[in-house]
Amino acid sequence: MDALEALVTRRSTRNYKPDPVEQEKIDKILESGRQAPSGGNNQTSHFFVIRNRDVLDKLIVMTEKAFAVMEVTENTYASMKHSINASKKGGYVFCYNAPVLIVVANRKDYGNNVADCACAIENMMVAANALDLGSCWINQLKWLNEELEIVEYLRSFGMKEDERVYGAVIIGYPATESGLPNRNLMALRGNKVTWID
Ligand SMILES: Cc1cc2nc3c(=O)[nH]c(=O)nc-3n(C[C@H](O)[C@H](O)[C@H](O)COP(=O)(O)O)c2cc1C
Repeated sequence: MDALEALVTRRSTRNYKPDPVEQEKIDKILESGRQAPSGGNNQTSHFFVIRNRDVLDKLIVMTEKAFAVMEVTENTYASMKHSINASKKGGYVFCYNAPVLIVVANRKDYGNNVADCACAIENMMVAANALDLGSCWINQLKWLNEELEIVEYLRSFGMKEDERVYGAVIIGYPATESGLPNRNLMALRGNKVTWID
């Protein structure tokens, strides 16, 4: 698959086989993220590759606990509303039980923190597609990036005092019949283009 095909056929996967992903493939995906552009070539993104089931389960419990006490208002972002309501109900799994979660942190006082993390995450999702793996952006840890319990837990793995989470991505083998990710082209209803010749 060439780069253009990997880019346009990347779709989100939200149902995974529990099978581990080969180290060689994770290394290629990480390299794609680490080679992503960054503002001023700052390279301050910090990648946490989480494969340990106990750690993933603990994050699942902590995110549910944090969302469950939040209130939904009419201004609550629709996806966050879902996280809050599902957490109040119980059994909310923000990372769809994928075997790999890559959390991307950056310096909280750096103006390009979100943009740099986004470049890295997009690179990793496209790389995953090129390697026949499924992926999906996971934003819940960004929404909870001032939640003390979660911040302290990530600090126990080396997140620095001045770092916060700005995005995350899950990777794994899709639980599809073919084992391949869905690659259907998306129906475009937005992303307007204005040509100025
Ligand atoms: C900034 C950003 C945050 C996202 N957060 C989540 C998320 O937390 N959970 C999720 O399931 N999908 C998340 N997505 C995936 C989008 O829902 C998805 O990209 C969109 O619906 C288009 O579908 P596609 O990825 O299959 O092309 C996020 C995507 C972006 C770019």
